[in-house]
Amino acid sequence: MSYATLLFDVRDAIAFIIVNRPDKLNALSGQVITDLGHAVDQVRHSPEIRAAIVTGAGPKAFVAGADISEFRGLGSVGARRFSAKGSGIFRSIEKSPKPYLAAVNGFALGGGCELAMACHLRLASENAKFGQPEAKLGIPPGYGGTIRLPRLVGKGRAIEMLTTGAMIDAAEAYRIGLVNRVFPADQLLAEAEKLARAMVANPPLAVAACLELAQAQEGMHMDDALALESAAFGTLFETADAKEGTAAFLEKRPAKFTGR
Ligand code: COA
Repeated sequence: MSYATLLFDVRDAIAFIIVNRPDKLNALSGQVITDLGHAVDQVRHSPEIRAAIVTGAGPKAFVAGADISEFRGLGSVGARRFSAKGSGIFRSIEKSPKPYLAAVNGFALGGGCELAMACHLRLASENAKFGQPEAKLGIPPGYGGTIRLPRLVGKGRAIEMLTTGAMIDAAEAYRIGLVNRVFPADQLLAEAEKLARAMVANPPLAVAACLELAQAQEGMHMDDALALESAAFGTLFETADAKEGTAAFLEKRPAKFTGR
């Protein structure tokens, strides 16, 4: 499938989703959001895809936010619909059983920071800049920024970023836990690919279970979350890959996983 505003490529079970509007710093137009929704569906439904890397085209931006030029004339109902649509797509990224890595190669502002936060982990280039500048436009974030930012970096730091709209650099983003790792710009994609390969090498049912459990516990009581983990542990124990993984370890040989 080809997309008007994305480059989509699959190599060695990893989908590369590149937001491709470099002249507009990869701002999320309505078309980008629609295309992202289809790309997320493609990742979910393609058995040959086991992980996805999201990044932006060009050297300057990951995504510099929602396309502000499309805000004019939106109205309250339209704006709410706009927010709900993007939010729903970002939520499907977060709930994906296949890992998403954001390779943040420049500005990740507004919807760009929110897209990165919806991914399971974030890697940044040294020139990356993060921010939620919506308050400067007179609105709050609309794609989950007020929820995911406090969860990732703590309420105090999140509120500072949300209310000032100030940008932070990659080093600061690393310090506060917004990104997992920082790399020189020319190494970012290769490092993201290396990490994705490490995930793809593991049995997909186990990877999916880790993602699902880590996600589900956010809204759960400790005892319920532990019970859910035990149930998944029991279920996964019977899979062919769990049997193979255990046998391979005990027999001191590399495991051959089949995805079952
Ligand atoms: N929506 C629409 N267009 C955007 C955009 C956005 N969020 N961010 C950047 N662009 C466009 C600019 O309008 C400009 O287009 P033009 O060349 O047709 O005038 C082009 O991308 C390049 O951006 P420019 O502002 O010239 O680059 P810069 O290096 O001077 O500044 C930023 C970079 C990121 C600081 C600045 O573009 C910016 O503040 N963008 C908006 C960020 C934002 O508020 N995002 C949240 C939206 S809810």
